[in-house]
Amino acid sequence: MNNINILAIETSCDETAAAVVQNGRVVLSNVVASQIEIHQVYGGVVPEIASRKHIEVINQVINQAIVEANLTFKEIDAIGVTYGPGLVGALLVGVSAAKSLAWALDLPLIGVHHISGHISANYITHSDLKPPFLCLVVSGGHSHIVYVKDYCKYELIGCTRDDAAGEAYDKVARVLGLGYPGGPVIDKLSLQGDASKIKLPKIRLKNGDYDFSFSGLKTAVVNYVHNLVQKNEIINNADIAAAFQKSVVSQLSDKVLKVCEEKQINRLVLAGGVAANSGLRNHLETESQKRNIDFYCPELKLCTDNAAMIGSDAYYRYVQGERATLSLNAMPQLKIDA
Ligand code: KG4
Ligand code: ZN
Repeated sequence: MNNINILAIETSCDETAAAVVQNGRVVLSNVVASQIEIHQVYGGVVPEIASRKHIEVINQVINQAIVEANLTFKEIDAIGVTYGPGLVGALLVGVSAAKSLAWALDLPLIGVHHISGHISANYITHSDLKPPFLCLVVSGGHSHIVYVKDYCKYELIGCTRDDAAGEAYDKVARVLGLGYPGGPVIDKLSLQGDASKIKLPKIRLKNGDYDFSFSGLKTAVVNYVHNLVQKNEIINNADIAAAFQKSVVSQLSDKVLKVCEEKQINRLVLAGGVAANSGLRNHLETESQKRNIDFYCPELKLCTDNAAMIGSDAYYRYVQGERATLSLNAMPQLKIDA
């Protein structure tokens, strides 16, 4: 069979990314232009600024992806693009670029769900991984437990009722004055802290419920910090980071391992920006081993937003015959199990 080269574009949040992926598993190029520094001054992503920055760099990023792949546009077989969920103005930049390329080069266009892309990042890192499996997807905007029935075919089992895990990390980091994005900083700092020094509430949802909730935990940290500020007492950021991380990791892991047990699933996959978290990766690895569950997570650079994961996902949609028309639009609230 001929090789299928997919040019993929991702602009759902604050990364302008383009990649070329061969046969869904081999990354020929993976260019990510991050806007993090621009948004840092505001303590989070400003949607209007994100859209404008995407427009400024998108053509350059796409060209670089082609050059680094050592290909020409003639050797591309299809264009894949994230069309949701995400920030509408940001998504529209990628979708418009992808539609223009598909039209100009007369190539098939494939619309990709952003979270589906995060899951597919694992197919790049693990050449032997195939569905079905259970996946815990934890990012800045989503926290899902998803049963992956087949490539790009999902059943949603649980999701967050309020904040996403990454969002909680970012908000806690903001109150501790640690900057944006908060996840990597808290993760690092937590290694120097003592979680037992601070009591945070254990989040319990009803039995048989696979949903998450992080806003209570976030509020508990915020209240704890404000209380110390009012009393003029010293705030130990490392201990707070350790206690917060322990609590997030145990909520996520307990739930997803419970689903594995109850549904007798022995293959577990981690995905999304928070999949880069050292505590979560280590804990799930250890606990999976104890339970004879095969555990997979993406290599670190494929955890946070990138276009290689979109290229992998688009390939599986391509071989299943999925095609989008030039009327493809950005869908900020796109569901994964629609
Ligand atoms: O998947 P992603 O790049 O963007 C979305 O789709 O939302 O995830 C970004 C999120 C941010 O909230 C960031 O703080 C979090 O992932 N993150 C982490 C770590 N690295 C990134 N959270 C915890 N620990 C990390 N090491
Ligand atoms: Zn993402």
